[in-house]
Amino acid sequence: MTATHSSANGPVFTLLDKESGHEFELPLMHASIGPDVIDMRRLYAETGCFTYDPGYTSTGSCQSRLTYIDGEAGILRHRGYPIEELAADSDFMDVCHLLLYGELPTAAEKQAFEDDITHHTMLHEQFYYFFRGFRRDSHPMAIMCAAVGALSAFYHDTTDIHSPEHRRIAAHRLIAKVPTIAAVAYKYSMGQPFVYPRNDLGYAANFLYMMYSNPCEDYVVNPVLARALDRILILHADHEQNASTSTVRLAGSSGANPYACIAAGIASLWGPAHGGANEAVLKMLGEIGNRDRIPEFLDRAKDKDDPFRLMGFGHRVYRNHDPRARILRESCHEVLEELGVKDEPLLDLAMELERIALEDDYFIDKKLFPNVDFYSGIIYRAMGIPVAMFTAMFALGRTAGWVAQWKEMIEDPAMKIGRPRQLYLGEVERHFVPLEERG
Ligand code: SDX
Repeated sequence: MTATHSSANGPVFTLLDKESGHEFELPLMHASIGPDVIDMRRLYAETGCFTYDPGYTSTGSCQSRLTYIDGEAGILRHRGYPIEELAADSDFMDVCHLLLYGELPTAAEKQAFEDDITHHTMLHEQFYYFFRGFRRDSHPMAIMCAAVGALSAFYHDTTDIHSPEHRRIAAHRLIAKVPTIAAVAYKYSMGQPFVYPRNDLGYAANFLYMMYSNPCEDYVVNPVLARALDRILILHADHEQNASTSTVRLAGSSGANPYACIAAGIASLWGPAHGGANEAVLKMLGEIGNRDRIPEFLDRAKDKDDPFRLMGFGHRVYRNHDPRARILRESCHEVLEELGVKDEPLLDLAMELERIALEDDYFIDKKLFPNVDFYSGIIYRAMGIPVAMFTAMFALGRTAGWVAQWKEMIEDPAMKIGRPRQLYLGEVERHFVPLEERG
């Protein structure tokens, strides 16, 4: 494949088949920032070949305007706004509006948006029966998959994905109801009564209220914890075409019910290689136990015969640092200080693990460093959130990105059902053998 050159229709890549000497021109599509893409849509028609890119390491699946990541520079921006500024100066409702509608809301728009989200936080009363079928020790992500998917049973006949108003309502309902569902999953696991949301609390405070209040006493949400949680939700809101977002897009490309599509995204996020890593980090830190055992676990992480990986380390896109991990590490200190936690052994262990790993040639060569999941669990734990709820917390923030990406896809006139091809390596052709003739 030769470098680009210009043709009458703009810049193109030329593909040379050396055997036949045939040249194929593939258009180049320019990004507003970041890598351009080679438009491969005509490749099969022109060459009879597919591309081959399992894991999609070099494949752009769509056009998007939501999130830009520069993996080399450790840049993350939502609609052009750096994540550092959004985390420091914005709040999660701002970011939800920004992702969904492309702009930070004016004061009036924000008031209207927050009111709409607030007034969709309650669940249909019949919905609470779903939870009673689960064992009390069911993993919250299993409950989240089922419950969010069950929303499609309540909102199917009234959801026309081609109606802008129906898309708006579906997006707002999901952002509003996912925290309520997550809090109910927690209360159910504790055997405590479900707590209804309150319309006088902000988004993060409402979630903490639903998690920790009970009918027997007053509960006042700690504003510092609510602010810390709000910032964590911002940091988890969206992240380009990651595994769970791509799952939502692929499911949604068939025109499926958006609630069911978000449930599919939750299922993908649950994996320990993805959002499930925050839970796995805490289990790993617990297994390491003390700093003397760090070298043993680093050796295991390097051992190709050992399936152990350093959870919370590495990233498909970031090759120097995950900007979210840096912000979360600072938030750790803030939350622990607010809670009067003088020494948190897990944080000390995590920071020592980071220090040693970042000086280790293996981790330096493979560009492995803490990602968003490395520190988040330590904050959740300090806030009293059980480890099993950690990935559900990730889903709380990421629901904003999932619904925004789904909405962007449905509104894209070029949207087509996603249907990848394959490299077939199976039997070429065989003919049926009756049972009595088989060996
Ligand atoms: C998230 O995509 C996103 O944007 C995701 C996310 C989001 O916001 O949506 O950022 C959220 O999922 C963060 C990642 C959380 N996962 C973990 O912390 C689990 C541990 N990390 C790894 O499983 C891994 O780093 C991934 C899954 C994150 C990335 O995997 P890749 O891009 O497929 O990289 P790879 O597995 O090919 O690894 C490259 C090399 C391999 O060695 P070689 O085969 O080249 O010899 O690095 C090694 C890997 O063995 N490696 C690790 C490692 N991660 C990669 N070795 C030890 N410990 C690790 N954590």
